[in-house]
Amino acid sequence: MKFGYFDDKSREYVINTPKTPYPWINYLGSDDMFGLVSNTAGGYCFYKDARLRRITRYRYNNIPLDNGGRYFYIKDGNEYYSPSWMPVKKDLDSYECRHGLGYTKIKGVKNNLQTEITYTIPLGDNVEIHRVSLKNTGSSAKEVSLFSFIEFCLYNAYDDMTNYQRTYSIGAVEVDGSVIYHKTDYRERRNHFAFYSVNTPIDGFDTDRDTFLGQFGGLHEPEVVAEGKSRNSVATGWNPIASHGLNVKLAPNEEKVFVFVLGYVENKEEEKWVSKGVINKSKAVALIEKYKDNNAVEKALADLAKHWDNLLSKYSVESDDEKLNRMVNIWNPYQCMTTFNMSRSASFFETGIGRGMGFRDSNQDLLGFVHQIPHKAKQRILDIAATQFEDGSAYHQYQPLTKKGNNEIGSGFNDDPLWLILATTAYIKETGDISILDEQVPYDCNPNNTGTLLEHLEKSFTYTLNNLGPHGLPLIGRADWNDCLNLNCFSTNPDESFQTCQNKQGRTAESVFIGGMFVYIGKEYAQLFDKLGNKEKSQSIMNEVQKMKDCVETHGYDKDWFLRAYDFYGNKVGSDENEEGKIFIEPQGFCVMAGIGVESGKALRAMESVDKYLNTKYGCVLQNPAYSEYHVNLGEISSYPPGYKENAGIFCHNNPWIMIAETVLGRGEKAFEYYSKIAPAYIEDISEIHKMEPYVYAQMIAGKDAVKPGEAKNSWLTGTAAWNYEAITKWILGVRPDYDGIVVDPCVPKDWDNIKIKRVFRETVYNITIKNPNKINKGVKKVIIDGVEKEGNFIPHIQDKGTHNVEVIMG
Ligand code: GLC
Ligand code: GLC
Repeated sequence: MKFGYFDDKSREYVINTPKTPYPWINYLGSDDMFGLVSNTAGGYCFYKDARLRRITRYRYNNIPLDNGGRYFYIKDGNEYYSPSWMPVKKDLDSYECRHGLGYTKIKGVKNNLQTEITYTIPLGDNVEIHRVSLKNTGSSAKEVSLFSFIEFCLYNAYDDMTNYQRTYSIGAVEVDGSVIYHKTDYRERRNHFAFYSVNTPIDGFDTDRDTFLGQFGGLHEPEVVAEGKSRNSVATGWNPIASHGLNVKLAPNEEKVFVFVLGYVENKEEEKWVSKGVINKSKAVALIEKYKDNNAVEKALADLAKHWDNLLSKYSVESDDEKLNRMVNIWNPYQCMTTFNMSRSASFFETGIGRGMGFRDSNQDLLGFVHQIPHKAKQRILDIAATQFEDGSAYHQYQPLTKKGNNEIGSGFNDDPLWLILATTAYIKETGDISILDEQVPYDCNPNNTGTLLEHLEKSFTYTLNNLGPHGLPLIGRADWNDCLNLNCFSTNPDESFQTCQNKQGRTAESVFIGGMFVYIGKEYAQLFDKLGNKEKSQSIMNEVQKMKDCVETHGYDKDWFLRAYDFYGNKVGSDENEEGKIFIEPQGFCVMAGIGVESGKALRAMESVDKYLNTKYGCVLQNPAYSEYHVNLGEISSYPPGYKENAGIFCHNNPWIMIAETVLGRGEKAFEYYSKIAPAYIEDISEIHKMEPYVYAQMIAGKDAVKPGEAKNSWLTGTAAWNYEAITKWILGVRPDYDGIVVDPCVPKDWDNIKIKRVFRETVYNITIKNPNKINKGVKKVIIDGVEKEGNFIPHIQDKGTHNVEVIMG
C-alpha cells in the first residue's frame, strides 16, 4: 500500500494522508542551521549542534509519537483545526505534504479555506522560514484567526529535558512589535538568542506555554485557540513559547501570504547590549527585513533549487527504469548529503544528544557525497584524521562542535583506521588533489604533535599489521564494523554498555571481515603509491595484501563460505559447526569485493551460500540462523531478539557489499536483484509493512526470524545511503572515478541497453552511453570518445572543462 507518490519533475515525494505508518520526515538546512520536519509539521531545529544549540523543543518518544513542532492553528467560526492535521487532528477536506530538497510544503483545506505552509531554511542564513498562504476558495467572505506556535528549547537539549530545578526558573523572552525574542541565559553566559517574527502587525501574542494552552490543555486544544484570542502573556521562567495571533479577512478567492521567520543570532560580547537590559536586535532585524515578503521567500527557494541542481548534476542516469532514475538522480544523493550534515546526530531515531561523529561512519559516508562537495569532504577527512592516535588506532567517535575525540567511548574498534585510507583515496580519485596527502594533521587533536595525512594513512595500514592474531588474521579489538559482535567483552552486567565496558585482555579474537577489508583497502593503498610513482612501496604493500589474501583463504574459509571470526577462545564464529549464526553477510561481501577466492571458486560458492541462507523477500539478513539466546562470548549481537538489528536483521548497510561482490563475479542479475529488494523506491508499494519513508533508506529491516519481517527502523542516518550509492553508481552502472580518468565497467542485467549517464568529473562533462549489443552482464570492448575509438574501459580525463560524448560498447 502507498501513502503518496513520487513527483520526479519537482523532485518531491508527495504524501496524501497525514496518517502515514510512521512520521515521514524531511530535513531543512544546508549550512549551519538545520531542521527536521515531519509530514504533519512535527520536529525541531538547531544551530550547528543538536545538543548544545537546540532552538525549538521536541520530546522524543512522545504520546502520540510525533507531537511538537512548528504548528499553525486556524479558528474558523466555532471550529478550530491545524492545516497540518497534527496536533489538533480534526479531519481536513483535503491534505497534501510535499517533501522536496531542503523544503517541505503542507497543504490543508477545510471549509473553503486553503492553507499552504512552506517550511525551508535558505542558503547562508540562520533562519527557518514558515510561509503561510491562506486562500478563500469559497464564494463568500471569510474571517478567521491564525495562530502560530513554537516552543523554545533552552538551548542545551540535555539540560532542557532533565534539569527542571534550574530550567523552570530561567526562561526569558521579550516582545517587540511582531517579533518574539527568546533570550534565556543571554544576560549571563550566552552570546546568542532566537526570535520568531511575522511580516505583518499582529493582533496578539503569547509567550507563556501554560497561558496559551491552559494549565490542563494539550497542544491539540490550546485555550487561546479555542477562544480565538491571544492573551499577550509574557513568560518569566517555566516554558517560553512564541505564538502570534492574526485576524485575517479574506474576500472570495482572495489569498494572503504571511512570512514567519524563526531565527538565530550571535552577538559579540561587546555588542550584546544597546543599553542596560536592552538586547542588541540589529542582526535579527536585518534578517527579518531580508525575508520581509513572499518575493524574498521565492528567491530563497529558487536559490535552493539551483544549489541542488548543482549538487545533483555530478552524476545522473537516464534509463527505462524510473525507479532507478529517481534513486540515483534524486533521493539517494539527497540522503547522502543528509548524512554529511547530520552524521548520526539528529533523526526521529537519534535524539541529537547521543553519539557524535563516528570515525568509521564518517569515512564511509564520505564515499556518498565526495563528488557533490569535494571541498567540504577534504575538511572532513582532515577532521577525522586528527582524531587518530600515533599508533594508528583512532577515537571511535568525536564531537562536531569541538572536533575532539570522545573519551567516553575511546578507541579499540580495530576496523576504524582502515576506513580513513578508503575515504582519502576516494577523495583523490574524485578531485585529483594529491596535495591533501601533505597536509599536516594532528594526532589525538594535539596541534603540537602532527604528521602528514600520508603518514596517518601509513599508520592506519600498519596498525592492522601490528595487530594480528594466532592465525595471522587481524585482531578484532572491541568490535569491527559490526558494533555488536563483541568477542572480548563478556558482559553480564545490564548496567554497562557493550561499547565501553572493560574488555578481557587477550590477543586471540580475530576478524575475517577486517582481513577482507585489509585486502580491499590495501589494494587501494598500493594503487595510491603507483600514482605517486613509488613502485617499491606499492609492491611491498601488495606483498602484505597477498599474505592476508592467502591467510583468509586458508584460515578464514569454512566449507562453502567465509568465516566471520575466531572468538576469545579461538573457536570459529560463522561456521557450519556453529548451531546458530552459521553464516554472516559481512565477510562474504568484503572478501569477495576484495577478490579473495575468485580464482579458487570459493567466492562463487560464498555468493551461492548468501543466496541460499541469507537472501529473503526483503533483502539479505545479517546472519543465519539468528541467535535465540544470549551468548556471553559474542556480546550485544545475541542480546537482540531474533531478526532485529545485528541479530539477523536485514542491515541495509551491508547488502550493497553483496551487490558489489556480485559485480566482481559478473553476475548482473543478482547484483540488481539485491539492489532493488531494498532500494526504497522499489518497495514503495509495501509502505504499510516497511513503515519508513519510501524515499530514503532505513538502517535496518526486520529479517525472516523477526515477529514482523519487512518492518524497517532507523531511517535516514545510516551508512546504507553511501554504500548503496556506491554499489549502484560505481559497480552496477559501473562509472567510477580513477586517478587519471573514469573507469566504465558496468555489470548489469543482460537485457539492459542504452543507459545514459551524465558524469561531471573535475568540471568536465562526460555524456556516457552504455550500449549492450550482445546482451551480456559485464565486459567492455571499447569506448568511443568524441568519435575516436579506444580499446578497453578507461576514459582518460580531458582537462578542458568541456562536454564530451562517450559511447561504451559492452562485449
Ligand atoms: C551502526 C553504526 C555503525 C556500525 C553498524 C553495525 O550503523 O553506526 O558504525 O558499523 O551499526 O553495527
Ligand atoms: C548499538 C546498535 C548498533 C550501533 C551502536 C552504536 O550497538 O545495535 O547498530 O552501531 O549501538 O553505538
